[in-house]
Amino acid sequence: MRIVNNIAEAKEEIGFARAAGKRIGFVPTMGYLHDGHLSLVETSRRHSDYQALSIFVNKIQFNDTKDYEGYPREFERDFDLALRAGVDLVFIPSDDEIYRNQLTFVDVEHLTEHLCGATRPGHFRGVCTVVTKLFNIIRPDVSVFGQKDIQQALIIIKMAMDLNFPIKIIISRIIREEGGLAMSSRNKHLTPDMKTRARSIYRGLAAAERAIAEGERQAAAITAAVKKELDAGKPDKIDYISLVSYYTLQPVKQIEGTSVLAVAAFFGSTRLIDNMIIEKKEGVFSCVY
Ligand code: PAJ
Repeated sequence: MRIVNNIAEAKEEIGFARAAGKRIGFVPTMGYLHDGHLSLVETSRRHSDYQALSIFVNKIQFNDTKDYEGYPREFERDFDLALRAGVDLVFIPSDDEIYRNQLTFVDVEHLTEHLCGATRPGHFRGVCTVVTKLFNIIRPDVSVFGQKDIQQALIIIKMAMDLNFPIKIIISRIIREEGGLAMSSRNKHLTPDMKTRARSIYRGLAAAERAIAEGERQAAAITAAVKKELDAGKPDKIDYISLVSYYTLQPVKQIEGTSVLAVAAFFGSTRLIDNMIIEKKEGVFSCVY
């Protein structure tokens, strides 16, 4: 496994792989790797022959300086995990390597209006800008994003289409801890008590699934079922519990086509997100979370 921190070297390494006829797979991350990240590498491997992974804590997508500064960083541990996952190239650039007097930013309209876009202004602009840059540096054939951040994944798919990136974007399933909490680098900030309470997010999604199986279609009733479970975990703040269209990410009043039920809540000062995709298959709604 090669670890490189400048753009020229990353391009050179990828160039060798491409010249050898390999399909390049790419997983962008902010590090502090966990099984969720590593599962994206596994997914990528099914579609490509050479695995590139980036680690870059992207300052411009944070709207809270404390969140940025406190973001967990343990790069030696990350390298070890990446090596064991069979990653071929780790690209870990400095801030300066990526942003030198950057005056150009990438904004995807409409899809960023709701959910995390509403409560984290500028967040997706930061994400889209860095992912565009990383796509141009790595030039992957395939790039994998987690369903865990469903709004991000759908925005990247739209961005790749709109900007004509010849990249196949894949959404990979959510990896959870025992008890259902979605894995996240930010879980490191949770005390054992907060972790136990945060499992209520998963229980909320499970309650929504049950309600849907019993025939409930109304957004108000489905989000109320989530809230009831979530409240039992005493979150410090609920940011949103929303039912939106999978295609437009605009709120819907009832489930019709494919929808996303998304949750964001604070436990202590840590903001956690989770979601469920609801799709109609052969006349029956199935929930993926
Ligand atoms: P980060 O939070 O490190 O996540 C990197 C990738 O891992 C994202 O695609 C995310 O959806 C996925 N991921 C995180 N937790 C997961 C889980 N429990 N199961 C499955 N996949 C999971 O998302 C970012 O970084 C950044 O915004 C980035 C895209 C790197 C741009 O800076």
